Amino acid sequence: MTTEGQAGLLLCDLEDIPDGGAKSFWFGTGSARRGIFLVRHGAEIAGYVNACPHIGMPLNFLGDRFLDRSGELILCATHGALFRIGDGFCVRGPCAGANLTPVSTIIIDKRVFLTP
Ligand code: FES
Repeated sequence: MTTEGQAGLLLCDLEDIPDGGAKSFWFGTGSARRGIFLVRHGAEIAGYVNACPHIGMPLNFLGDRFLDRSGELILCATHGALFRIGDGFCVRGPCAGANLTPVSTIIIDKRVFLTP
């Protein structure tokens, strides 16, 4: 569930995202449907548009699985591109050298907001 607040759009509580895990969010419907996802490391969050720079596919096939087996890199489930969590840089795969598109978030009182 998301609500509007002065800090931005409330996405979730920090605890809704497992430490070392990720969570996706979708907005709009039909051809206007867009997604983002957040990856949590402790009290820090990295957020990106859920579209691979290779051909624009969502990075996840199912649920909130965005990381590789090591939990250290973001994995695109379609063709296996790997991205650094901290800056979204693609280190391996068909779009090596490209970047995920970041989204800006802020954590206030253990709640995560999407900022404009
Ligand atoms: S769509 Fe992500 S690597 Fe091809």
